Amino acid sequence: MQFKVVFVCLGNICRSPLAKALFEKHVHENGLQNRFFIDSAGTSSNHAGEGADRRTLLSAKNNGLVFTNIAKQFTLGHFEEFDMIVVMDRSNEKNVKSLSEDGELHKKVHLMRKWDMHGTDENVPDPWYGGQEGFEEVFQILNRSTAALLQDLTTG
Ligand code: 4NP
Repeated sequence: MQFKVVFVCLGNICRSPLAKALFEKHVHENGLQNRFFIDSAGTSSNHAGEGADRRTLLSAKNNGLVFTNIAKQFTLGHFEEFDMIVVMDRSNEKNVKSLSEDGELHKKVHLMRKWDMHGTDENVPDPWYGGQEGFEEVFQILNRSTAALLQDLTTG
């Protein structure tokens, strides 16, 4: 049985596609690809069908990571299907939980920065309106948080 993890942000073009790509990278580096099914989605449908934001792709490339993604909206079906829903911020958490009143489903939802040892904020900042340096900060946050998440899921 594969453990199913989905990373969720607002647009599914900046943070969650990168979180997915970085978690996949850590999974592959540890030879654990058979153990996980990994996806990403956005609570909004505004960017559905679009590729990842070019600023996200640029900071990933500058850090040696190349990936592609087609944005899609998070649905109740995802909520039911996945074992773990990792949201980027409190707003995403609220939007995800608003899809169902089922407390068992709500227990699947976790903030990404719960796994950030250097966390100064509980949210992964939304880089959309800022400059390229914000995307670099998001890359570093997601790189260390997804590594710690994998460690958490595979030890103890
Ligand atoms: P994401 O970033 O939620 O990390 O994909 C955003 C993408 C688009 C918008 C906001 C945040 N937007 O306002 O269109």
